[in-house]
This record gives sequence, C-alpha cells and structure tokens, in this order.
Amino acid sequence: MTVNNFDYYNPTKILFGKDLYGRLPEEIKSHTQQTKVLVCYGGGSIKLNGVYDRLMASLKDFEIHEFSGIEANPEYTTLMKAVEIIRLHQIDFVLAVGGGSVIDGVKFIVAAAKYDGDPWEVLQRKPGCVFEEAIGFGAILTLPATGSEMNSGAVISRSETKEKRTMGGPMCFPKFSVLDPKVVASLPQKQIANGITDAFMHTLEQYLTYPTWNLLQERIAEGILQTLIETAPEVMKNPSDEKWAANLMWCATMALNGTLRAGVAYDWSTHMIAHELTALHGIDHARTLAIIGPNLFRIKLSNKREKLNQYGQRVWGLQDDCAEEAINKTIQFFHDLSIPTRLQDYVNNYEGTAEEIVKRFEQRGWENMGERQDLRLEEVEQIVKNSY
Ligand code: NZQ
Ligand code: ZN
Repeated sequence: MTVNNFDYYNPTKILFGKDLYGRLPEEIKSHTQQTKVLVCYGGGSIKLNGVYDRLMASLKDFEIHEFSGIEANPEYTTLMKAVEIIRLHQIDFVLAVGGGSVIDGVKFIVAAAKYDGDPWEVLQRKPGCVFEEAIGFGAILTLPATGSEMNSGAVISRSETKEKRTMGGPMCFPKFSVLDPKVVASLPQKQIANGITDAFMHTLEQYLTYPTWNLLQERIAEGILQTLIETAPEVMKNPSDEKWAANLMWCATMALNGTLRAGVAYDWSTHMIAHELTALHGIDHARTLAIIGPNLFRIKLSNKREKLNQYGQRVWGLQDDCAEEAINKTIQFFHDLSIPTRLQDYVNNYEGTAEEIVKRFEQRGWENMGERQDLRLEEVEQIVKNSY
C-alpha cells in the first residue's frame, strides 16, 4: 500500500470574506476585454437579501445583461435560453450568483455557448460529443453546499425525460468565486441542513472506501467531518453568526474542490444513485444522499469496514469494531438536522423506483461503480429497496 498517483489542478481563485464586491471589476477585467457581463441567478432570493443590490452597485461601469429563473436542479430548456442571449449579444463573461444550481447552470451555459451541436448529447455521453471550450465565468456563492464554486463539474436536469446528468471538464472551473459567509443568514433552515448534509456526504464518498497510505488526505477528510459535526448545531441555531457560517462555507468548498480525492480511492456511487431519486421524484439533492448513503454503506460493509471503523473511531470517538455504529451515528446526524432518511418520508409513489434505476444504469452501461468497481446492479436494487 502506498500513496496513489494523482494530478492536482485547481485554477479557481477564492475571494473569501466580507465586503469583497469592490474587487469584482478588477477580477472580471482580468478575464475579458469587454465590459459586457451576463449576470445569471435563480428565483430571486438575491433580491431579498441584498446580494443583488451590492453586486449591481459594484458593477455600475459594466453593461449588464441579466438572466434570472434558473431553477433548483437547473433545467436544460431554461439554460438554453441563456445560451441564446450570449450568442445574440456576443457576451464573453458570465457571473453566476446563487447556489449549486445557478453555478452548475452557468457551467452548462458557458460550455454550450461554444458548442456547435446539440449540447444535450454531450451530457448523454454520445460518442464524439464533448465540450472542449467555454466562455469565462465567475461565481458569487449564496449557499454553502455543493462545492461547485471551486470545481469543474455540474449536474443538469431535463424534466421532460426525468433525467439528471453530469458534465464538466477543465474549462468549467470558475475563474474566481466570492465566498461571503453573510449569505447564510438569509437561508431557510432546510437549505442550511441540505448544505451540511451534501458537504458531509461529499467527504464520505471520498473517504469511506479502503485505507490508502495518503495519511494527510484521510486526516483532512476527518477534519472536515469533525468541523461539520461541531458547526452544524451552531449554524442551524444562529445562521447570522458569521464565525460558524464561515466554517460551514469553507468546509463545503473544501469537501469538493479536488483536494480530498488526491491520492485516495473514491466511490461516488451514492451520488449516482441519489441523482436518480431527484430525477424521478424531485427530492432535494442532499436529502437523496441521506436516503441512499447509509444503505449503500451497509450493503458494501465488507468493502468499507476498515474505513468505517477508522471513521467511527476518529470522527465519532467510538471504540474498536464500530462500523455499524458509525453508520447509525451518521443517520442520527442527519436526523438531528431534520433530514429524514427514508424514501417514504418524501413520496408515496416509490414502488418500482429501484427497478427503474437499475434499468437506467443498465442502459448507460453503469455496471461496476464504486471504489473497487464491484457494485453490481442487484446490489443497487437492494440499496434502493432498503431505502424505501
Ligand atoms: O433560486 P434562488 O433564489 O437562488 O433560491 C435558492 C433555491 O431556491 C435558495 N437560496 C440560495 N441561496 C440563498 C437562497 N435562499 C435564501 N438565501 C440565500 N442566500 O436555495 C434554494 C436551493 O438552491 P440550490 O442552488 O438548488 O441548492 P444547492 O446549492 O444545494 O445546489 C443543488 C444542485 O447542485 C447539484 C445538485 O445536483 C443540485 O442540482 N450538485 C452540484 C455539484 C457540483 N457542481 O459539484 C455536486 C453536488 O453533489 C450536487 O450534485
Ligand atoms: Zn452532492
């Protein structure tokens, strides 16, 4: 056992803290010759919490075009309208202002704007269809959760076919991201809980595999998990307390910016199964992870036992052979955030979900996921059924 080989690349500049909007003009100008910017956002929360006003004041010397209405779980058809605006006005810099959905949506927009064919075929992994370039973009993060502000991946939905597909590539890193913990104050409790859960599961997906000799990466993961456990009750109680909000925000970014995966084994099958629950039933992303994750850990207990024991001991302070207890602690952590962990807590029409997911995975050839590429489709079916 040794440290696995790895490439580590992350070009996103982070501007972390208060009152940094004044630096936006200089940051934008370093990436475009133009003064035109397309500002993309969601359903309007930025107009209620002051983000929009502060942003517009800082960009008063720019020609601003706006695109609003990017949904939670951003929709392909909506995003294609923004692609048209970019082409019509020949815009070459975009600002994403929002949570993971807006930032992911913008990653799609900037890549699709530079793509000649049907961009959905790229997400379908049609042979020969790839995004190779993108327009530059920056992000103003308003919801600590996904890490999209410092990574190059995105997840795009198409509700007409009930699909949710991933995309990405080096051209999809934000040029810069502004992380101001103040934004946490206006978040509904449900979204704070979602953010904590998503960051926790991102860390577990890159940690609960098998031991490697990358001691630092394992301890960074444990540090994020412990910080989230300490931070969660405080930030839920008082979202305006910036010291806790700041810790949540940095944990969420660090949990999925390429650091944790360096030199270790990673899994991601919880995410791939869970994305289907959002696609089929519209359940919030983080909640689908809380439904699937613990059941996947149980089904793959023999693969993950050593790391589950390490997690139980180092993160939860448990003793010896504590793998199952560590899974129970994880479930309790989600319940303490008022995140239910069974599918029936969210929808009534869950019968047939497992079979449908297996059918989709079969069609896509996703037969061997997980850190050892040995997650069989029968196991996927069992995991989903155990999650009902
Ligand atoms: O629409 P707006 O007005 O922005 O309101 C949003 C939305 O209703 C609201 N909100 C955001 N910031 C707020 C706020 N409300 C009040 N005050 C604020 N400061 O919160 C709601 C949810 O926002 P959304 O962006 O959907 O949440 P999240 O950040 O959890 O993103 C979820 C999306 O990211 C994808 C998920 O699949 C899902 O589509 N993911 C992206 C990843 C990536 N790019 O690396 C990884 C993740 O695993 C995940 O799959
Ligand atoms: Zn996630």
